[in-house]
Amino acid sequence: MDRESEELLKELCPGLEITKSGKAWITRSDKALAKTTQARDLYPVVDFTRGEGPWIYDLAGNQYIDVTAGVGVRALGLRHPGIIEYERRIQSYIREVPGQDFDILPQTLLAERLSAIAPGNHMKKVFFTTSGGRAVEAAVKSLMDTKHRQRFVAFRPAFHGRTGYSLALTASKHVHKDYYPQGLDVVRAPYPYCYRCPFGQKEGECDLECVRYLRDSIQYEGTDIAGIVFEPVCGEGGILPAPPKFVRELRKIADELGAGLVTDEVQAGLGRSGHWWSIENSGVTPDYICSAKALGVGFAFAACIGPDPMFTEFGRHSETFGAEPYVALLSLAQLHIIIRDGILENVRNRSKQLLSGLRDIQGSTKIIGDVRGLGLMCGVEIVSSSDKTKDNADLRNSLLVNCVKKHGLWIIGAGRNCLRFLPSLNTTAEQIDIILERFAKAVKDTK
Ligand SMILES: Cc1ncc(COP(=O)(O)O)c(C=O)c1O
Repeated sequence: MDRESEELLKELCPGLEITKSGKAWITRSDKALAKTTQARDLYPVVDFTRGEGPWIYDLAGNQYIDVTAGVGVRALGLRHPGIIEYERRIQSYIREVPGQDFDILPQTLLAERLSAIAPGNHMKKVFFTTSGGRAVEAAVKSLMDTKHRQRFVAFRPAFHGRTGYSLALTASKHVHKDYYPQGLDVVRAPYPYCYRCPFGQKEGECDLECVRYLRDSIQYEGTDIAGIVFEPVCGEGGILPAPPKFVRELRKIADELGAGLVTDEVQAGLGRSGHWWSIENSGVTPDYICSAKALGVGFAFAACIGPDPMFTEFGRHSETFGAEPYVALLSLAQLHIIIRDGILENVRNRSKQLLSGLRDIQGSTKIIGDVRGLGLMCGVEIVSSSDKTKDNADLRNSLLVNCVKKHGLWIIGAGRNCLRFLPSLNTTAEQIDIILERFAKAVKDTK
């Protein structure tokens, strides 16, 4: 943090102490902020005034290469020159125009662009909102409104958000759910976690026992399903790409029941899979696409792309902050840059490099049981060195500490015992080599 930034903070917060000590800020943050998901014993305080591309810094000036992309938020890395240039060109436009109550050009244009890049030639509608959970809730409300049904299918593990209906669909950790009432009727079935198949089958050799289980559950619990909600790549649950044949079965089941198929692309969408939407890996056309995280280029922004009609009447659903001009224009700029710079192709190429490098590292150690992923959404599963079938959360946690604190690899976990690699979509081949080199060293240091 330079002198000018320090002076600015002092001016904005007269009487409050502004120090450069990360330790002091950790204590203050712990005191001032509600307990949520900051792992303060692991991550140092980020210098919010510095950083470029994949490089971030802590307050002490230590540099890290970022493979979290803000858990999928920074599609093009920090301070992308193209985004900065568009920000400069749009900075004088008015911002405070709640898009749900008045029509403004940018949100209509963005809705048209999003509909055009969504699979299927049918007529689509777009609802803008402010978080991934709310994008999912928009799909849920739309399905209830148009189908007059209230029962949904969701999976375990699954993460769809932490509020209301989205929390009801989530099944990731009990801490998310304990004492909060279930807001929706949910028929729950196991997600195809092929490395640990709940039906004891081997990947690629099974008869989709998970689909049979789901069909049975629906028969026992209710066939009046409004929608099937799923992540084509289960993110929080451990970076689990669903086999394409599983996704095709979900489409069949939805069609048989007259239900809608909802793809939660909050983490895996908008180019991260090497295609606009991760469901494209299976060739399936969904009825709803939920997008957030990267869509807002750093702002709280989300969208639900659905069928026409999405809501039956004026006023059935709305939200103050829809797509204000500034964020909608930034989102359009990002889509433009992704196309202009061939970013989807870069994702596909860098994905091969990353997965192959991670598999090489797997070959050199006994603690990596599985390497998997789609596009630049990759995961490694940490297991006990004496038994590949045993997950090892403690070892994963030690590896995380070594990555961040010893080797400058800014990375987060997923599931109970996995690490996730979500680098920015424009990561270069050289940067992937640096990531792999640092990860290999951290693995070597972890016992
Ligand atoms: C797949 C998926 N869906 C929904 C959400 C919830 O998004 P938000 O935190 O913006 O509500 C997340 C957040 O991590 C996610 O990964």
